[in-house]
Amino acid sequence: MNNVESHPDLLKEQDAEVAAWLQREDQRQSSTLTLIASENHSSAAVRETGQSRITDKYAEGYPSRRYYGGCEVADGIEELARARAMKLFGAEAANVQPHSGTTANLAALMALAGPNGRIVGMSLKDGGHLSHGHPRSATGILFEPKQYGVNSDGRIDLDEVRDLVKAHKPQVLIAGGSAYARNIDYQAFKDIAKEHDAFLLADIAHPAGLIAAGLVPSPVGIADVVTMTTHKTLRGPRGGMILSTKDVAKKINSAVFPGSQGGPLVQQIAGKAVAFGEALRPEFRAYQESVQTNATHLADRLIGEGLKVVSGGTDNHIVLVDLQGTGMTGADVEERALAAGLAVNKNAVPNDPLPPMVTSGLRLGTPAVTTRGFGTAEIDQLVDIVVGLVRGEDPGRYRSIVLELSEAHPLP
Ligand SMILES: Cc1ncc(COP(=O)(O)O)c(C=O)c1O
Repeated sequence: MNNVESHPDLLKEQDAEVAAWLQREDQRQSSTLTLIASENHSSAAVRETGQSRITDKYAEGYPSRRYYGGCEVADGIEELARARAMKLFGAEAANVQPHSGTTANLAALMALAGPNGRIVGMSLKDGGHLSHGHPRSATGILFEPKQYGVNSDGRIDLDEVRDLVKAHKPQVLIAGGSAYARNIDYQAFKDIAKEHDAFLLADIAHPAGLIAAGLVPSPVGIADVVTMTTHKTLRGPRGGMILSTKDVAKKINSAVFPGSQGGPLVQQIAGKAVAFGEALRPEFRAYQESVQTNATHLADRLIGEGLKVVSGGTDNHIVLVDLQGTGMTGADVEERALAAGLAVNKNAVPNDPLPPMVTSGLRLGTPAVTTRGFGTAEIDQLVDIVVGLVRGEDPGRYRSIVLELSEAHPLP
């Protein structure tokens, strides 16, 4: 029996301050709607693993090869998570220890590029991620990065990728992004990488759930290494994961531990195992279909209302709105949305003239509201709100609609 079952008010009695903060977060999530593309609401079963006593266990190393005694349970949990991950994605090897997507990428780059190695990835301002070689990330400090962007149509410029790889001769080419709404042609990336003897790393942090459900193309079987977070569309606990071919699995494992991490967070690994179990069920595919349908509907409706959507739509769960010409910045709309009860995030659009804390864009995503049971009818209501906010309507007039929608669609 865990503490919560035996004594539900334990935290409140022992530490009222922390309990109050956590209760406030419960209220915040219950009474607002999350349209942040990188967030989701995990199941109660996933969250329960975080309270397990396994949180107290050190388990440096890997199953059957630990540097601590008493790891038989940690071994069982990690083996289960690995087996489910490999089944879910059809991968030859899985490392479920990365604490986050950033540490997964760092370890993968350490394994494949080596010290001071050369890497090529998509720039943050065009939709890539910090950990793909941004100058302020360890991946931009420890490696020599060059960055590619998108064309004026908002799609990856494969000619630029090819030219960069030819000129920079990287050990690793990275495909994937944080604000990229279109499918990625992993085979085209692989062909470019192969031509120059580079490894291909695909970072599927965002579309991992859609890929697991078979709704968008998978890089597994094409890329040498696939990294991801487990908490976005995949709807697991916060964390990272690395899939790879058998050939590079050993190098990956040693780059994770001892290369870039110490003891794994076994309670998070247990949560990953639960989430992968959920993702292997048919209901998960139905959920991901709704995520995708809702995002397509959201993009179509926003365009219909006269807003500009980067690349003209979406193939996944992300809709990147270009606010240029509306008189609003990304920061303006983020703040106005919050006042209405919508959590959204400002985001750079390609060639954005505004700085990252302001931006000309808004990144919207459907995973969290779809988990709460939203369909296209509810998306229509959200569109009315977002469009109204962009047009300068008073956010206060939408607060009660958001509250009603939130109450009608409780958190899992
Ligand atoms: C493509 C991509 N890679 C890596 C990460 C990093 O994940 P984390 O925040 O867990 O370090 C993110 C997070 O948003 C991401 O979008």
